[in-house]
Amino acid sequence: EKGGYEHFMLKEIYEQPRSIRDCMRGRIYPEEGKVQLGGLKEFTDKLKNIDRIIIVACGTSWHAGLVGEYLIEEYARIPVEVEYASEFRYRNPIITEKDVVIAISQSGETADTMAAIEMAKEKGATIFGICNVVGASIPRITHAGVYTHAGPEIGVASTKAFTAQVTVLTLMAFYMAQQKGTITNSKLTELLTELDCIPDKIHAALQSNDIIKEVSAKIKDASNCLFLGRGSGFPVALEGALKLKEISYIHAEGYPAAEMKHGPIALIDEEMPVVFIATKNSSYEKVISNIQEVKARKGQVIAIVTEGDVEVKKMVDYCIEIPDASEAFLPLLATIPLQLLSYHIAVMRGCNVDQPRNLAKSVTVE
Ligand code: M6R
Repeated sequence: EKGGYEHFMLKEIYEQPRSIRDCMRGRIYPEEGKVQLGGLKEFTDKLKNIDRIIIVACGTSWHAGLVGEYLIEEYARIPVEVEYASEFRYRNPIITEKDVVIAISQSGETADTMAAIEMAKEKGATIFGICNVVGASIPRITHAGVYTHAGPEIGVASTKAFTAQVTVLTLMAFYMAQQKGTITNSKLTELLTELDCIPDKIHAALQSNDIIKEVSAKIKDASNCLFLGRGSGFPVALEGALKLKEISYIHAEGYPAAEMKHGPIALIDEEMPVVFIATKNSSYEKVISNIQEVKARKGQVIAIVTEGDVEVKKMVDYCIEIPDASEAFLPLLATIPLQLLSYHIAVMRGCNVDQPRNLAKSVTVE
């Protein structure tokens, strides 16, 4: 059942070229520059006039929501707020009939996310779901939704469900942009043509496995680890840190790279591995200066870089390459090496990768 892999987590990491392809099937038409989301069809008119979107989720799904915020604001120009379901439900949030709430959940059973949906529904908001498990509770209480179709995820640490959630959010952002007219047909054609190649690029990113194993061996005994990124690299950093802490029990934190100097920099010494998302995008130069700040304090830097990068390579201890891509798709690619890194470290530390202590696959208690 593990298909020859030692753990479900590794199998699910390697399934991503296929799960992303499944997630996009029948939904993108690159030649026509068109996105079709059957689940949202009834709401096409509503999508033209939304003032605000609120995304609610927990854990990894919340990180996907943060990537979604970048994409929806960038392409559909709709303001987005991303909330922890557990916080949102206990506030007295301002929600009106004009709001759209997007609830993200792999299992579709998370208690806090369900309660947040019920509350927003009572206040008249329209609720869209992004779920993986077909027929779960959340898809039954939302007004509409889009399944991620990543297939069953057994490992407690979410991997292929995360990249599928990000893919659905990318499709939603493009769909809304298309309905609102905030994107030209030629731009959408270009983006969809590139998105269509992302499964192949994920396949290529998985080829760094051996290097990642070597890096894992070097840092496996650390007691702390920092993950830093900017822009949509920030949620990727958060997700990398969550993955590492939940399966290897190394204390890890994700931070926006520029926030480092407001506190976390005090932690940096020779013992501290710092993982940077340093791919070639609009924040590349800024990230480079953040790397210099860490190196000046003797931190060990592991950088996720764009294939062929030379500048970052000169400065850091270890480099892991991913294929080049437009900024919109970087989170999908940069996540892959971080999943493998946490996996190998956890295995080397003798941890129970698929069933980490104190955790359950779906959190049905509040
Ligand atoms: O099923 P859900 O997506 O609603 O679950 C939310 C979180 O419990 C989940 O993502 C959790 O953080 C994972 N263990 C992360 O790997």
